[in-house]
Amino acid sequence: MTIHIGAKPGQIAETVLMPGDPYRAKWAAQTFLENPELVNETRGMLGYTGTWRGHSVTIQGSGMGMPSLSIYANELIRDFGAKTLIRIGSCGGMQDKVKIRDVIVAMTASSFSTPSSGIFRELNFAPCADWSLLQAAVLAAEARKVPTHVGGIYSADVFYDERPDLNEQMIRHGILGVEMEAAELYNLAARYGVRALALLTVSDHLITHEALPAEDREKSFGDMVEIALEAAFA
Ligand code: HPA
Repeated sequence: MTIHIGAKPGQIAETVLMPGDPYRAKWAAQTFLENPELVNETRGMLGYTGTWRGHSVTIQGSGMGMPSLSIYANELIRDFGAKTLIRIGSCGGMQDKVKIRDVIVAMTASSFSTPSSGIFRELNFAPCADWSLLQAAVLAAEARKVPTHVGGIYSADVFYDERPDLNEQMIRHGILGVEMEAAELYNLAARYGVRALALLTVSDHLITHEALPAEDREKSFGDMVEIALEAAFA
């Protein structure tokens, strides 16, 4: 048990999938895991542990934003021994070629203020995904014929950003999408020598202003959960 995770020792698997939304954790666990058991409900940040093809897996909500994810990732790694952490989230598309429902595999994540990067002082540390997970996720997505993009994303501090010129520069430099958690996850994974990856379905678009219809969200999210599970145990 930690301050934010009420699970008992041994109740968290070495492989953890992390959606931002705790209800997505519940849905994914009940849809894809066998014998899912609720292992955390502290602050409503639901976490479940079950099995997938015989492998033990935890699906734990991270909350929104890097400070929230940082709390859960730190405790999962340091106190519960998590070794593979895969964010399964949504993002806003930032390139014309990136369409609603596509999956983005984040090779790296740019940010203004990754919470844990203060340790580097003035060094602009480039947090990156684990190669084995990234490669396996791309192969799993291709096998499922899910349109996939691999590249850099932007982990923002504010959802309601009022600096459109910033987005223009991100777009110009090929950033595929914007979300709010991956840079911190990659930073912590590097620090503690564990594997991390962020998979993101494009739920809205900063150029076209399209949005994924609510009724399509489950299907798109489900494809990504399966890609994450296949990558984790490839
Ligand atoms: N901005 C930031 N985070 C997001 C977005 C967005 O447009 N869409 C999904 N997560």
